[in-house]
Amino acid sequence: MDLRELIEAVYRKELLVAVRSGEKIPYAEDGAGRFDDKSGDICWWTNGFWAGLLWQLYAYRRNALFRRTAERIEKKLDRNFLSAAGMDHDSGFKWLLTAGADLQLTGSEKSKNRLLLAANDLAGRFNPAGGFLRAWNDETGEKAGWAIIDCMMNLPLLYRAGKLTRDPRFSAIALRHAETARRYLIREDGSARHIAVFDPATGAFSEELGGQGMGRGSSWSRGQAWAIYGFTLSYLHTGRRAFLRTAERCADRFLSLLPASGLVPADLCQPADCPYEDGSAAAIAACGLFELSRATGKGKYRAASRTLLETLAGKRCDFSPARDGLLTHCSVAYQGGEHNIALIYGDYFFTEAVLKFLDKEIFLW
Ligand code: GLY
Repeated sequence: MDLRELIEAVYRKELLVAVRSGEKIPYAEDGAGRFDDKSGDICWWTNGFWAGLLWQLYAYRRNALFRRTAERIEKKLDRNFLSAAGMDHDSGFKWLLTAGADLQLTGSEKSKNRLLLAANDLAGRFNPAGGFLRAWNDETGEKAGWAIIDCMMNLPLLYRAGKLTRDPRFSAIALRHAETARRYLIREDGSARHIAVFDPATGAFSEELGGQGMGRGSSWSRGQAWAIYGFTLSYLHTGRRAFLRTAERCADRFLSLLPASGLVPADLCQPADCPYEDGSAAAIAACGLFELSRATGKGKYRAASRTLLETLAGKRCDFSPARDGLLTHCSVAYQGGEHNIALIYGDYFFTEAVLKFLDKEIFLW
């Protein structure tokens, strides 16, 4: 596979999608091959990915349309700050890929302000009794003690805010959360739970929930991929080797459960005849394994990353102008009906992975 040809094909496709999408904030592709628009649901957790993809490709080719579109989305997200219920632990996904990218590429003070507002809110979700960041909101308080594996990807917002402000509180909170996640969200065999439930008053761990996976005890593939990439990122930001060892255990488990096809199922424990795939998990894992290989010096992770990428490129990418989505087989969750469709974060991480191999990525985490 020629990576230069691959990134050119991605670029051509995303240019077309950018022209076609106009003001949209894409999330999922509909049956007619067009992305929907989450502008009306401004607090949705995926609302940073399209801007992140545009910034990555802007850095690659300096197309002003990409920059203007990404800047408009960043501004639109300001409405999210006014909704307490809409501010949850996904601030990293939303603002690292919008304001964080803008700050990195243009030095914008407004973007720095947004990044710090988001980080302050995320830090405010810390539960000192349990040492975790609360994941989601709810009116009854039922979820006050819920921590989830996905949050490992939001921690870089805190690490970065700590560096920007020279205030050690941010990384202290991120570190405590990562340690709690290592203990309660990763099982002995290196598989990741999706949700850990704690008593929010005492911090005592009570149970795991299946969340977006098949059920309790299973291995939701995207969660496993968040764990590989997320613990690697915590190592990169803190230098703590325990996080690197955890990332390796998660990676080894993920790779040991992959089917011979190399196509990643929605849950690593699902029945062999279940057709649900999650290309987004494959793309996230490709990114995480690449960074893990750099951090450990182990070539096996880079080789695995490349194989995942090549399998997606060869079998699960639609480069045609007919449809908006690039990765064709992503699943929102094991349960529910949204399977084998294009989702914007699949396209984001696929593009990030290609750029990593070309040494052209802007590192946003
Ligand atoms: N963070 C939610 C998901 O991965 O679906």
